[in-house]
Amino acid sequence: MEGYRKALTVWYNHTKRDLPWRDGCEPYHIWVSEVILQQTRIQQGTDYYHNFLRLFPDVPSLANAPEVEVLKAWQGLGYYSRARNMHHAAKTIQNSFNGIFPADYHTIKKLKGIGDYTAAAIASIAFGLPYAVVDGNVYRVLSRLFGISTAIDSTAGRKEFYRLAQLLLDPDRPGDSNQAIMELGAIQCLPSRPLCPDCPLHTKCFAYENQCIDRFPVKSKKTKQKERYLNFIYLHDKNNLFLEKRNDKDIWRNLFQFPVIETTGPSSPEEVITSLAWKELFKNTSINIESVYPEKIHLLTHQRLHIRFYSVKLESNSVPGPGHWIAVEPMEISKYPVPKPVENFLMEMGH
Ligand code: ADE
Repeated sequence: MEGYRKALTVWYNHTKRDLPWRDGCEPYHIWVSEVILQQTRIQQGTDYYHNFLRLFPDVPSLANAPEVEVLKAWQGLGYYSRARNMHHAAKTIQNSFNGIFPADYHTIKKLKGIGDYTAAAIASIAFGLPYAVVDGNVYRVLSRLFGISTAIDSTAGRKEFYRLAQLLLDPDRPGDSNQAIMELGAIQCLPSRPLCPDCPLHTKCFAYENQCIDRFPVKSKKTKQKERYLNFIYLHDKNNLFLEKRNDKDIWRNLFQFPVIETTGPSSPEEVITSLAWKELFKNTSINIESVYPEKIHLLTHQRLHIRFYSVKLESNSVPGPGHWIAVEPMEISKYPVPKPVENFLMEMGH
């Protein structure tokens, strides 16, 4: 393993990107950066990172913030449970550890939302502890390098890759060692068309030598995509628009949205407008349907959302029906965390 480690170290020291969280080893900063980087690429992640730390510069400020502000800072990143879990974990650190980030792998892993990957990243980068990280980059690099065909989404595969990553980890500098392999996956050993001739490990790489880069990594299952059909009603009168809070254990939990009608399959606008759900939504309410927009597709990791917006005006002397609608003045809308497609629609409407 020594030869691999050396080649990786030399390459990383030369090539590593100058990223804001690499300036120090403040565990809170490492934590925030690693959770954000599970959601998005470095460029966008860096913007979110700066904004998050500006709003919540340390554990106490995150712990004491209202959840709505944490979700707002996360808006657009997706997987909002990660933001809610960080908020929860910050409260735990504040209340159970006097605000001091625990410096022990197992204690870190007990914090809400922190799994093997994040615990190993924080333990190694912030505290110099010898725990190997295994993320998508690491699976790709190791499977190609050593020609491992065990499926990465199988129990045996996870075990095998963890063992190998741990063997490859440089115990003298675990933080850099972990970041080097992830960095290699991010900028060199790309999912398609990897830049093999410039790779510091290409002379040692099984897949390169055997010209079978595309065969790795191996996955056993195809992730199934669920189709969902959401009809969002941009309901407004001359002063306000109306939002509701999503409370269910579902995507976008605790975010705000327009009133919505979800159908089990594809439905035409006519079917939606004449449906029972629509009648229920607008009973005793006098409305004017202004426009129906073309359906758009919004992709989440495991869901394909078919989304259609309806612009509906409440007649001037009409009172909105269900009590859970929140009347929001257009000036105030930016305070509410909303799902990405709703944000896009609001922007198109000039909000
Ligand atoms: N991907 C996620 N975390 C990373 C890190 N610290 N360095 C490089 N790539 C990463």
